[in-house]
Amino acid sequence: MARILTGIQATGVPHLGNILGAIEPAINLANDPKNESLLFIANLHTLTSIKEPEVIRENTYAVAAAWLALGLNTERTIFYRQSDIPEVTEMTWYLNCFTPFPMLANAHSFKDKSDRLSDVNAGLFDYPVLMACDILMYDADIVPVGKDQKQHLEMTRDIAGSINHNLGKETLKQPEASFDENVMIVPGIDGEKMSKSYGNTINLFQTDKKLRKNVMKIVTDTTPLEKPKNPDTCNVFKIYKLVASDEEVATMRKNYEAGGYGYGHAKQELYEKLRDRYSEPRERFQHLMDNKHEIDQELEKGAKRAREIGRPVLSRLRKELGY
Ligand code: TYM
Repeated sequence: MARILTGIQATGVPHLGNILGAIEPAINLANDPKNESLLFIANLHTLTSIKEPEVIRENTYAVAAAWLALGLNTERTIFYRQSDIPEVTEMTWYLNCFTPFPMLANAHSFKDKSDRLSDVNAGLFDYPVLMACDILMYDADIVPVGKDQKQHLEMTRDIAGSINHNLGKETLKQPEASFDENVMIVPGIDGEKMSKSYGNTINLFQTDKKLRKNVMKIVTDTTPLEKPKNPDTCNVFKIYKLVASDEEVATMRKNYEAGGYGYGHAKQELYEKLRDRYSEPRERFQHLMDNKHEIDQELEKGAKRAREIGRPVLSRLRKELGY
């Protein structure tokens, strides 16, 4: 039995990139009875960029509600909040002491964020070590993430390798990353990677009217309606491909290539696809956000189970380190 683990930050209501890149693949893996899985909300990581307590709390609920609404089975999956596991911050300290400074200083995401953000704090710098700890504390075998997290996964393996080498024994398990090749990076409405920090997301969990408006903002070129269009360079088509069936995608491709089919038509089809494909999760999400005690119950149950797995790993490491 493989132990699968993944996390998502509490930076806001999960967007389509999070859903297709992480949440759905993770739920599919978790629902496979051959696996044991842990899924968590990385709300300690969130403090690197968000400082308002109410926003952190609300975002944590929104992420939890999205996972639950999209079909996470909490009997089978251990579902918890990172902040309910205080052991993770203790263990991060130990990992820090085995993490070379240049490895963190050269991390792509740190370089990118430190160029863009005004609040460049030590937590932001140390982000990958807390993430490594999230994984290593539970002896995870497989970590399904989007391609943007590849370097963080490599760092996790390096940190575990460095500790094992220093201690002269296999104290921490080195996990494998797992990427869904079909999804890779979900493009946002401007064609860049969909990301809250780029302001280019599609948010499924809003009213039909707002969702439609959101989809209509997808950036396209100026090829006139009657002319044939290249679907492979079009942002609308790229997103449609990720949510529609093969047959539907083939039809849209034909329409693009034939001409007389405008970007407005394609956007309307994409909007309808999203609306219909996610109609149940969207309703369930609203229900949970209006009944947050139901979310709390699930998360508290998960934290208890997660600590039962994490504590022995931390004890093992403490002992090996001489504490
Ligand atoms: P976060 O919250 O930025 O992203 C959560 C997951 O969504 C994926 N993702 C995407 N995939 C495809 N296309 C996109 N446009 C897109 N945007 C986001 C990310 O790859 C990720 O899998 N550092 C993590 C959170 C974390 C974590 C962990 C993950 C903390 N500890 C331990 C795994 C294991 C992050 O930034 O997630």
